[in-house]
Amino acid sequence: MAALQLDGLLIASPGNPTGTMLGKPALQALADHAKKSGIGFISDEIYHGIEYEKKAVTALEVTNSVYVINSFSKYFSMTGWRVGWLVVPEDHVRSVERLAQNMFICPPHISQIAALEALGCGEEMEKNLAVYAENRRLMLAGLPQVGINKIAPPDGAFYIYADISEFGVDSRIFAAQVLAYAGVAITPGLDFDPLRGGHTIRLSYAQSTDEIVEGLCRLKAFMQARYL
Ligand SMILES: Cc1ncc(COP(=O)(O)O)c(C=O)c1O
Repeated sequence: MAALQLDGLLIASPGNPTGTMLGKPALQALADHAKKSGIGFISDEIYHGIEYEKKAVTALEVTNSVYVINSFSKYFSMTGWRVGWLVVPEDHVRSVERLAQNMFICPPHISQIAALEALGCGEEMEKNLAVYAENRRLMLAGLPQVGINKIAPPDGAFYIYADISEFGVDSRIFAAQVLAYAGVAITPGLDFDPLRGGHTIRLSYAQSTDEIVEGLCRLKAFMQARYL
């Protein structure tokens, strides 16, 4: 089989939809491979700061030859404000500036002011993180009780990615049933993985803890009535 010709490598850690993280050795190996193959290496670190048992590793710890993407959308809860940042290898800054100035010039001025303010709201961010941590704990305790126990390591972000193949139903149908009968929105894995996503679902716990408790309760009633 011919070797796959890549133009670049884009990774996200913690990832969406899985919430899993890459450790330093894995990041190092990917960075080394990209360098050896002469391809670009892009690290999407948008979920940094939303991690639980161990800290996320930035690709900048293993290489300077990397484009790091980050944003105020997740840790700073500013989804929709369209403000983020890039760390770019020194010799590519000018090219990225040219691209940026033709694509969007700059983020909205009001977003820049709000983002500056957000940088000083660490206490509020840590409170949000504590809510995610409690929600994650509830999800990890509650999902096995409804038969959902094959999950990817939920290291960071606010997602649980689970295998539902034992229920013998396509993830899109499963998600539609859960929405229609339990009023709980989950995402079919097919949105992320056209090959294997028919067997997987993504659950987000970026909500209040009360909502998560209610969602788990409804999911339990649904699963007991349909699948258990
Ligand atoms: C891994 C990842 N990268 C980037 C984005 C986009 O974020 P933004 O709101 O800053 O466009 C998302 C949003 O869900 C994401 O999950």
